[in-house]
Amino acid sequence: MNQKVTVVGAGNVGATAAQRLAEKELADVVLIDVVEGVPQGKSLDLAQAAPIEKHDAHLTGTNTYEASAGSDIVIITAGLPRKPGMSRDDLLTANRGIVKNVVGQIVRYSPDAVLIIVSNPLDAMCHVAMEESGFPKNRVIGMAGVLDSARFRAFIAMELTVSVENVHAMVLGGHGDTMVPLPRFSTVAGIPITEWMTPERIEALVARTRSGGAEIVGLLKTGSAYYAPASAAVEMAESILRDKKKILPCAAYLEGEYGIAGLFVGVPVKLGKNGIEEIISLRLTPQEQKDLEKSAAAVRELVDAMKETA
Ligand code: NAI
Ligand code: 2OP
Repeated sequence: MNQKVTVVGAGNVGATAAQRLAEKELADVVLIDVVEGVPQGKSLDLAQAAPIEKHDAHLTGTNTYEASAGSDIVIITAGLPRKPGMSRDDLLTANRGIVKNVVGQIVRYSPDAVLIIVSNPLDAMCHVAMEESGFPKNRVIGMAGVLDSARFRAFIAMELTVSVENVHAMVLGGHGDTMVPLPRFSTVAGIPITEWMTPERIEALVARTRSGGAEIVGLLKTGSAYYAPASAAVEMAESILRDKKKILPCAAYLEGEYGIAGLFVGVPVKLGKNGIEEIISLRLTPQEQKDLEKSAAAVRELVDAMKETA
């Protein structure tokens, strides 16, 4: 491959992302973790699957950053996942230090990379990554909206017994309980779901989407979701590596868009070779705008709390 993606954190999300990147032959993959042997072992295991899966992606596992040099994209999944009873915000203090440290090392070796942040609490970790890297706002992107929208899409497809391929959905806002699923912009075969379901059923699916991560934590008990999160991060990486210019909901640094400034919040963006190439402004109803502002306020509270304890 002539492109390189580094995945930091060789745990559940990171290793699954590495697998998907390699199996889609999107890039060579460097997998980094602090735990000795884990990134090496997982990379070797994935490399041994390559003859069966029929890909020629090169995989490297390491505890240091030299091999990451010149990465086109770095996906940061390093940090603690939540356990039952924990909110994403409970991870703030531990993951802030981890993300700061990781980004500092990444920047030394890959000054031109696009950063895709996964570690939680997502929106706050995007701020840490932007500050520590000094990268322009188009090259620091948070993964949340693609995952939250995929959950909404899956629930809509289950409800209507239709192919997931027919379903598109849009979830904006922060990656937390205040996220804003937008039924008006969520469609089945191009028809808004407001035409397919009663408001009560839509509200039930919206509520399940909002607690989609917690539902999985409650079932797994020892960690959080990783198959769908890895797919979401890799969809973003693919759009950038292949310059596909997909419109995807991602956490982006806003400077006045949607009436919000100086904050990472989930909004639709165009992802191409330069990272975020455009922020798409949807015309929201007063209620949708209010919900987005409430979600942004929750993100701001967390970011402010983080700054106060820095
Ligand atoms: P995990 O515990 O399976 O993996 C995390 C890995 O990070 C571990 O292997 C750990 O050794 C490694 N790590 C810790 N400190 C490190 C450092 N300084 N440098 C390099 N590696 C380091 O956790 P999982 O399930 O992979 O989740 C990772 C993070 O992603 C968590 O914070 C989780 O909450 C978040 N997440 C975010 C999602 C989103 O939608 N944004 C979705 C799913 C997970
Ligand atoms: C999720 O939504 C834990 O943020 C992670 O599954």
